[in-house]
Amino acid sequence: MKIHNFCAGPSILPAEVFEQASNAVIDLNGSGLSLLEISHRSHAFIEIMDEARDLSLELLGLSGKDYTALFLQGGASSQFLMVAYNFLKNEAAYLNTGTWSKKAIKEAKIFGDVKVVGSSENENFNHIPEYDISEKFDYFHCTSNNTIFGTQINSFPSTDTPVFCDMSSDIFSRVLDFKKFDIIYAGAQKNLGPAGTTLVVIKNDLLENINENVPSMMNYKVHAEKSSMFNTPPVFAIYVSLLNMRWIKKIGGVSAIEEMNRKKSDMIYSEIDLNPLFKGHAKKIDRSMMNATFNLCDDNFKESFESMLSEARITALAGHRSVGGYRASMYNAMGIDSVKALVEVMSELESKI
Ligand SMILES: Cc1ncc(COP(=O)(O)O)c(C=O)c1O
Repeated sequence: MKIHNFCAGPSILPAEVFEQASNAVIDLNGSGLSLLEISHRSHAFIEIMDEARDLSLELLGLSGKDYTALFLQGGASSQFLMVAYNFLKNEAAYLNTGTWSKKAIKEAKIFGDVKVVGSSENENFNHIPEYDISEKFDYFHCTSNNTIFGTQINSFPSTDTPVFCDMSSDIFSRVLDFKKFDIIYAGAQKNLGPAGTTLVVIKNDLLENINENVPSMMNYKVHAEKSSMFNTPPVFAIYVSLLNMRWIKKIGGVSAIEEMNRKKSDMIYSEIDLNPLFKGHAKKIDRSMMNATFNLCDDNFKESFESMLSEARITALAGHRSVGGYRASMYNAMGIDSVKALVEVMSELESKI
């Protein structure tokens, strides 16, 4: 019986991607060599890197004339400091929508002044706050999807201020006007691929505006000039990300994925709203399509609910300790059957009581 894995990350990828990835570890495309034993400077790997960089822009509807895609290391957490190291000159605006935004703010403060232009911290980050970025800022930083709290930004500003966005938990999950962004970054391990690489998409104009004396490994221009091969790249993580992006393209691209994601999230949220035993954490207007956070209204039902979950082979549903309760992470590769299985358990609990 299938395990329904709601893990927030690292998380599920399509079964065919796992299979192709494991084949490549044994024998890459019939070459007789493992993906893991060839030079990153070999023709075979350069092709993989080029296709991965091109396909990431293609899926976002961006042109290589205007943007550069990089596959870096150090996770999204390194991007928290890297964006500031490269571009914070005087003051940057940050939107505080949860744990990951706070971490980004903390790192940026090492490099310059930070103005928190909006925060929902006083309501345990259950919504996306209003904000004002009409002053002059080096850039505006936001987190499009708040993995822990289950909120998601629906509209992004059109502004002359460069917009930097952490899309770690909703990259390739919905169609946006990606031209609004000057930097998009995303740790791979949710919607993109395995842990170990971070996609950075940066507007080419910005590469001419990097602060002085940024060390090479932290410098976007160095990575861009070396076609994302300044040092040995994480070959496995990049290859699996490429396989996953090919899968996204094959099933119809980001718009087809969005349609599926919307069906899944509508299904879980309508159960949360209709079932008197549960309540959602995030305000309805700002609910995330990726991570649905909810609690039991009465903890006396916890034991029964959790034993029913394990009977249905539903796993990794525990909420983050800062919210408690449950979190259903429904990334791109999750089939609607898994969400259906969860909703059935929730409604069965109601019928038993
Ligand atoms: C929105 C968001 N940003 C950043 C991170 C941190 O990513 P990493 O572990 O790749 O540094 C996470 C991890 O869950 C996340 O969800």
